Amino acid sequence: MTKKDVLVYPNDFLNSFIAGDTIEVMKQIPDESVDLIVTSPPYNLKNSTGNGMKDGRGGKWANAALVNGYSHHNDNMPHEEYTEWQRNCLSEMLRLIPDDGAIFYNHKWRVQSGLIQDRQDIVTGFPVRQIIIWKRKGGINFNPGYFLPTYEVIYLIAKPKFRLVKKANAHGDVWEFGQESNNKHPAPFPIGLIERIISSTKAQSILDPFMGSGTTALAAKKLGRDFIGIDISPEYCQMAEKRLAENIFTYPKIRKESSYQIKLMEQNN
Ligand SMILES: C[S@@+](CC[C@H](N)C(=O)[O-])C[C@H]1O[C@@H](n2cnc3c(N)ncnc32)[C@H](O)[C@@H]1O
Repeated sequence: MTKKDVLVYPNDFLNSFIAGDTIEVMKQIPDESVDLIVTSPPYNLKNSTGNGMKDGRGGKWANAALVNGYSHHNDNMPHEEYTEWQRNCLSEMLRLIPDDGAIFYNHKWRVQSGLIQDRQDIVTGFPVRQIIIWKRKGGINFNPGYFLPTYEVIYLIAKPKFRLVKKANAHGDVWEFGQESNNKHPAPFPIGLIERIISSTKAQSILDPFMGSGTTALAAKKLGRDFIGIDISPEYCQMAEKRLAENIFTYPKIRKESSYQIKLMEQNN
């Protein structure tokens, strides 16, 4: 792991995992220099009106991986603060993509105090072109007031000239992928979902500003593209780097790079 206080684009970024605060790291990337962004932010699940996720005492949620939050983020911000943070992240992401670029921003709607909390307050004003429904397995619904939630959403936030590659528009807007198992990160993407997104575009460089266990990186390299991964947790960056290394012999396109770097931003110390 190399310690850095200033990162230089593109050498310090491409095919690297950067451990640091996402906005601070993104600020060091020049305008319009990444083709595509695919990400899933922390959902702020522990700021909840329900009892289980709120304080982590467990109960019904005793087995939910996210009850403990992330290694370096407690997932429990006041709602307004969280919304403002996510809007600032999206503004920074929008700055980084060119006129034919796009952001695939995954989020989850949920019921709070008996009413749906969609994420309109986060995405209002951003150029949302489409909402893709990611149909996944539910869990157990203990609340008799509503049906078992079984989907998340992916906002396609696109600049005007963004286009899919030929035939990708034949996919519908409801995608069914089961959750990822066999991953120590509490909230990983299923890799098939990210491969669907990346392979639907011609993007060569793909940024995930909340990289977690490195699913976007692995999907990008499987498809012969470049990635930039940012996560506040040096532990998750190491997990992601190890995951790529373990797959070097599985996917021939990954082998082209001999090693992937982890950069630790100085402010993390
Ligand atoms: C939903 S998870 C992403 C999981 C990822 N899609 C995967 O496949 O493993 C969100 C991630 O955001 C990270 N995170 C939280 N706050 C952050 C911040 N300020 N800057 C960078 N990363 C942050 C967490 O450590 C967590 O790994």
